[in-house]
Amino acid sequence: MEPSVITNHANGNPHDLHDKRRVLIFDTTLRDGEQSPGASLTSVEKLEIARQLAYLGVDIIEAGFPAASPDDLEAVRRIAAEVGNSAEGEVEPHRMHIPVIAGLARTSKGDIEKCWQAVRYAAKPRIHTFLATSDIHLQYKLKMTREEVVTKTREMVGYAVSFFTEAGMTPDVEFSPEDAGRSDKEFLVEVLTAAIEAGATTLNIPDTVGYCTPEEYGALITYLRGNTPGAENVVFSLHCHNDLGLATANTLAGLRAGARQAEVTINGIGERAGNTSLEEVVMALHTKQAQFGLFTGINTSQLARTSQMVANYTGIMVQFNKAIIGANAFAHEAGIHQDGMLKNASTYEIIQPEVVGWTASKLVLGKHSGRHAFKMRLKELGHPLIDEELDKAFGRFKQLADKKKTITDADLEAIVSDELYQPREFFTLTDMQVTCGKSGMPTATIHLRDEHGESLIDAAVGVGPVDATFKAIDKLVRWKFDVEFILLEYAVHAVTEGIDALGEVTVRVETNEDTPRTFGGHGADLDIIVASAKAYISAVNRMMAARGKAAHDTASALELKSVS
Ligand code: KIV
Ligand code: ZN
Repeated sequence: MEPSVITNHANGNPHDLHDKRRVLIFDTTLRDGEQSPGASLTSVEKLEIARQLAYLGVDIIEAGFPAASPDDLEAVRRIAAEVGNSAEGEVEPHRMHIPVIAGLARTSKGDIEKCWQAVRYAAKPRIHTFLATSDIHLQYKLKMTREEVVTKTREMVGYAVSFFTEAGMTPDVEFSPEDAGRSDKEFLVEVLTAAIEAGATTLNIPDTVGYCTPEEYGALITYLRGNTPGAENVVFSLHCHNDLGLATANTLAGLRAGARQAEVTINGIGERAGNTSLEEVVMALHTKQAQFGLFTGINTSQLARTSQMVANYTGIMVQFNKAIIGANAFAHEAGIHQDGMLKNASTYEIIQPEVVGWTASKLVLGKHSGRHAFKMRLKELGHPLIDEELDKAFGRFKQLADKKKTITDADLEAIVSDELYQPREFFTLTDMQVTCGKSGMPTATIHLRDEHGESLIDAAVGVGPVDATFKAIDKLVRWKFDVEFILLEYAVHAVTEGIDALGEVTVRVETNEDTPRTFGGHGADLDIIVASAKAYISAVNRMMAARGKAAHDTASALELKSVS
């Protein structure tokens, strides 16, 4: 098999948005994805992910829900200003493009105003407003009649459009009839007609609760495109949830039915069972090019890296057997398969790993490699580090190279994500000592430093070394703050093969507050107990960042109240 091209636009120009075969990729990792339980991201993490999404080549980044909190508004504003204005998505001259930056708003004046306040800093802003249309939502949630929904849609889409016209810009307003998948299709036509008449440029058709099958969803798109006056002048968009595991199949059915925007998230994260995963849709179109005849502007070689970044920042691990980006997606276990692979990779591989950015087995650097070689290799991997960040990562590399003979790209990625993709460090692991054995009492002594430089030391006994470690950290955190954690998930995996592999640990913890919240964390080290401690502390730090954010939001809300 000939190597596939790395980008996903072999048969088309990704910049030709008028090409009927061009599919726009609307990424909502930072909005719907962040609605996954426990996926709360800091604004710095959101900015980093947005930069990476631009580098990946997505067309639209839904950066958040500005009315949700002052912090969310600020995060969207920063992304609009910093990612929505430069060609950071550029990797080759023909891929120069600045993503559209979208914000979500309910169909209310307040939400739309806040959304505009945030997205207007982008070169290409978009307001995405939504209102439910299913009878279930109208009756129980909105308590509105169908007529009221049509009127509100018309008024609020028009209101969103007015911000663009006042600013002398071409309107870019997306409207979503929430729960379209369970809505009456004739009523949907009425609502969509009102949205088009009021100036909406994109009509998104959400299967909010993941209820449709591919046949139903495809037929719905065909019906709406065929029966809504003015449909030919707008882009139809797909937004599927994965409650029945059909999100990707539904999205592909919608594309077949003529929609040309797919709303997706990295790793398929999102509310409940998640959203359609970006990597699956993009690689299905790429691999089945002859069947679909469609293309995107995605640089597929950035898929693995983006997936890893999102997993690390959100603490939501990618399941091992996940299509395209799971750790086992390119692993061949059975003897017959391995034999086939050795003879010709196309026997058991429909996608070459490097096409999606898997470079795991490559030997790159060793003990004697210098800072320059290290810096250059990281740059090639898409991490152009300088100054302090480079120093930190190089220090870790040297430590690792002392203990591990061969350093692969996968090791480098783990070092970078461990050093850089971490929340603000309220607590840092300074030292630790663990004793365990068959008949002893596993004991961990942990030494942390808090952000003011104060040293905190305590010890605990547990059922095993990891349990003892977490208990000791719990004691230290509880000593400073009145909060306890329940460990929900713990996973460890080896970054590379061999006895000296780096261990990467991911945890998810829940707080014991009145309204429990979940936080994820990750850590990497040659010693898996140290990696476990780092992962746990990173979840604690994420909780601390969220506490700070909540306090800031309350303070801002009080401030707003006292002004009005
Ligand atoms: O699932 C959904 O309906 C949504 C809308 C807000 C687009 O996320
Ligand atoms: Zn959704």
